[in-house]
Amino acid sequence: MQRGFAKEVRRGLTGSPKSLPPWLFYDAVGTQLFERITGLPEYYPTRTELLILQEMGPQMVRQAGVPPTVVELGVGSAYKTRVLIEALLELRARATFIPVDVSGEALKLAQQRLEPIFPRLEIHPLRAEYQAALEQIRATAGPKLVLFIGSSIGNFEPDEALAFLCLVRRALTPGSTLLLGTDLRKPRALLEAAYNDAAGVTAAFNLHLLERINRELGGHFALERFRHAAHFDDEHCRIQMHLQSVQSQQVDIDGLGLRISFEPGERIHTENSYKFTVGGAQALLARAGFENLCSWTDPRGWFGVHLARVT
Ligand code: AVJ
Repeated sequence: MQRGFAKEVRRGLTGSPKSLPPWLFYDAVGTQLFERITGLPEYYPTRTELLILQEMGPQMVRQAGVPPTVVELGVGSAYKTRVLIEALLELRARATFIPVDVSGEALKLAQQRLEPIFPRLEIHPLRAEYQAALEQIRATAGPKLVLFIGSSIGNFEPDEALAFLCLVRRALTPGSTLLLGTDLRKPRALLEAAYNDAAGVTAAFNLHLLERINRELGGHFALERFRHAAHFDDEHCRIQMHLQSVQSQQVDIDGLGLRISFEPGERIHTENSYKFTVGGAQALLARAGFENLCSWTDPRGWFGVHLARVT
């Protein structure tokens, strides 16, 4: 993990334009900051998706065929997962839950949160990257419901999203299903507010990446010389997050033996968050070889949840 971090930082900051991949956000501090983001008044995705799951969870689980096993790719808020597990255990006596994440901390937290509530749930945390996890999951028998919620898919480039969904499909036997959460396209002002919150938590989340480089790699970033920027890019239908250098500067990263130069206004691209249409998400699932069973949205059409089956 540490080695991976160093490699990604070196590659991202010596490249042109400069970039850092969004999965670097999620150390212990970043995970906590993201939890705070999910509760912000401007950040509608988490609470909107939760509302859809609360309302339609029982129907989703029935349409998924009341499977014995639920797999969650990426441990999100245990609260959203809880709603679906609850709906499942209304319909069957026992179930197995396999949360998948690279963070052992996140897995432990999810287990601690769910175990006391669901005595009829067996929890088998799987600490691995998605690809390795999916290979292991392929080897276990029986139909499964795979959760990939929270619009995590929005971090992927379109071709990566397709490749990822193909990987999921190949790991599943016929009758298994995927529940995919996607943030939806909406007016620019609403999207940009969600990534430029008044309390400055998203800015702190973005800037903390530089702090992480300082701490883990002996970097010398002065955080006040960078500013958080998030804009909706209409052409690609995505929010783009950057860290923008407010002045000309050079920053040493001792652990990498690097000196990085910044022009005034130069940006480090830290995240894309793609926004979908219901039709676009369904087409993507179809291209990956899934049969879309149903899509649900909230009344305002801000967030979409799609259930797709392997045939
Ligand atoms: C976890 C990728 C779904 O794109 O909305 C939130 C991450 N970044 N605010 C998103 C995020 C800034 C989030 N995802």
